[in-house]
Amino acid sequence: MPWIKIAATTQLQEDEAMPINVGDAQLALFRSGGAFHVTDNVCTHQYALLTDGYVEDGCVECPLHQARFDLRTGEARGAPATQPIRVYPVRIEGTDVFVDA
Ligand code: FES
Repeated sequence: MPWIKIAATTQLQEDEAMPINVGDAQLALFRSGGAFHVTDNVCTHQYALLTDGYVEDGCVECPLHQARFDLRTGEARGAPATQPIRVYPVRIEGTDVFVDA
């Protein structure tokens, strides 16, 4: 897939998130741990949007049952979620954020 420009780096401060729609996909852009990350926005446990969750130290905590996901790998770090969220390659060019989704 081609790289798609999804945001400007100035749109997010550290430990903030915003929803991104790419085609039919509900993705999430995070800025945390000194980097930008793009993941699926829907939790793998039940239906909740991770952009409504708490972001800290490169992880997001789901707003519904507080499962934590590593934004670098997508790994589920805490119950009740056991399945990882999908992560997507991110590229920064100047102040533009691109995703390969
Ligand atoms: S919906 Fe995310 S932890 Fe339950």
